[in-house]
Amino acid sequence: MTDFTDKLRSIVGERGLVTDEAGKHPYLTDWRDNYLGTALAVVRPASTEEVAAVVKLCANEKVAVVPQGGNTGMVGGGTPHESGREVVLSLNRMNRIVEIDPIGYTMTVEAGVVLKTIQESAAQHDRLFPLSLAAEGSCTIGGNLSTNAGGVQVLHYGNARQLVLGLEVVTPQGEIWNGLRALKKDNTGYDLRDLYLGAEGTLGIITRAVLKLSPKPRDTATSWIAVPSPDAAVALLSGAHAASEDNVTSCELMSRQGVDLVLKHIPGAADPLAERHDWYVLLEWSSTRARRAGANETGLAEKMEAYLGEALDKGLVVDAALAQNEAQARAFWGLRENHSEAQKREGPSIKHDISVSVSKIPAFMKEGLAAMKKVLPECRPLPFGHVGDGNLHFNCQAPPGWDKARFMAHAEAISGAVYDLVVGYGGSISAEHGIGQLKVDELAHYRSRIELDTMRAIKRALDPQNLMNPGKVVRI
Ligand code: FAD
Ligand code: MLT
Ligand code: ZN
Repeated sequence: MTDFTDKLRSIVGERGLVTDEAGKHPYLTDWRDNYLGTALAVVRPASTEEVAAVVKLCANEKVAVVPQGGNTGMVGGGTPHESGREVVLSLNRMNRIVEIDPIGYTMTVEAGVVLKTIQESAAQHDRLFPLSLAAEGSCTIGGNLSTNAGGVQVLHYGNARQLVLGLEVVTPQGEIWNGLRALKKDNTGYDLRDLYLGAEGTLGIITRAVLKLSPKPRDTATSWIAVPSPDAAVALLSGAHAASEDNVTSCELMSRQGVDLVLKHIPGAADPLAERHDWYVLLEWSSTRARRAGANETGLAEKMEAYLGEALDKGLVVDAALAQNEAQARAFWGLRENHSEAQKREGPSIKHDISVSVSKIPAFMKEGLAAMKKVLPECRPLPFGHVGDGNLHFNCQAPPGWDKARFMAHAEAISGAVYDLVVGYGGSISAEHGIGQLKVDELAHYRSRIELDTMRAIKRALDPQNLMNPGKVVRI
């Protein structure tokens, strides 16, 4: 392989190549420590042309390519296989913001730019890039687009797919497709852009993107709300759309057990309410309409307070804290966003990133919790997530003291029970995290023959050698 790595080195230089085991290690495992792969090398190109040359070389030498961004994915999509003849192609050196057009509300970026950097750059130009998720300090826009990431503002702004106008992609043959069009309207044949979005690196490598920006909110209200049940949470959200004048930007549901784990594992986390409650909602409204200082006008905070008062009278709310300043709002968000980290620190868990229609959440929650307990009575269900999108992280934590091997022996039965129920509800077994290597068998099991045949036909047509992130999403 020295010959092959020498050829890689001649394309990307010494800085762009990692071949020693210690240097490669962080690229060969995933955030959840569920996978450990091997790679001939980790290659870090600095430009689209270098990406294209690497992919062309790999195509000629029949070496598979695993694209990787921030490596925060939840389904092992960016981790190479254990015994593969693969290279990891990291986009982390392609981290330039190419152009910001505040007039046209667009931003052109390289794929390796970290999401937080994009949000901050938009803010500096008085614009908003609304994609927001707990991993935003490390995930990259290329990874976000390749997983069609969701996050905490989808109910107002949409998934990553809705936030992109154009793409540049390196094909599995090492050619560069320039689709960097900043067009709102473009009905010229099949939409290639939509094909690459959410493809998890199995059809090509996204190297640049034109993103859609929004106006920056001028008024925001955030509340931490104790609710008696998931039914109440859904009813509270339903009324909030009109009460906020269609300004609900986030609605997140959590259980007491989930909040307890955050309080246990995350230093500085504090319960905003005096009493313990079974369920919590984090509700945020934002508007581009500024509160006019001194004007006799009701802002979002007053409107939210009035709405929560009515909801309290109706029994939909038990108690609530309305953030009085940005620091308090950030603390509320910390309790929500640290759920994944706290669950990781607590020990092994099985994740079910599922969705059903919003109105079916309460019934699904009851049946789903019972289904998990039926399979393993000692398990600790920890459902939380984007209730406003009907997307729950219907997670299951190992019983206290159980090691991973003992718990994972039950994983297939627990997940099978949950997914059968989800499908019975007309829902999705992967709402926002994708398929990666974790759910390849589940996708093949739950999707129809016609959908699978079409996906495989697309994969074969675009990547006939099966060298672009093989074995992820669909097997051919
Ligand atoms: P990676 O993990 O590096 O890669 C993800 C997939 O995309 C892989 O299949 C990889 O091969 C492919 N890929 C990466 N870059 C490219 C590229 N340039 N071209 C082609 N393919 C590429 N996800 C959500 O949707 N919503 C959430 O709320 C959310 N919260 C999270 C919270 C935490 C704490 C963590 C750790 C993760 C969370 N995630 C969430 C999952 C993860 O952050 C997202 O999937 C994110 O979009 C992945 O970006 P990344 O750059 O880390 O991609
Ligand atoms: C989140 O919303 O915090 C992540 O997508 C959840 C997870 O860890 O399952
Ligand atoms: Zn999520």
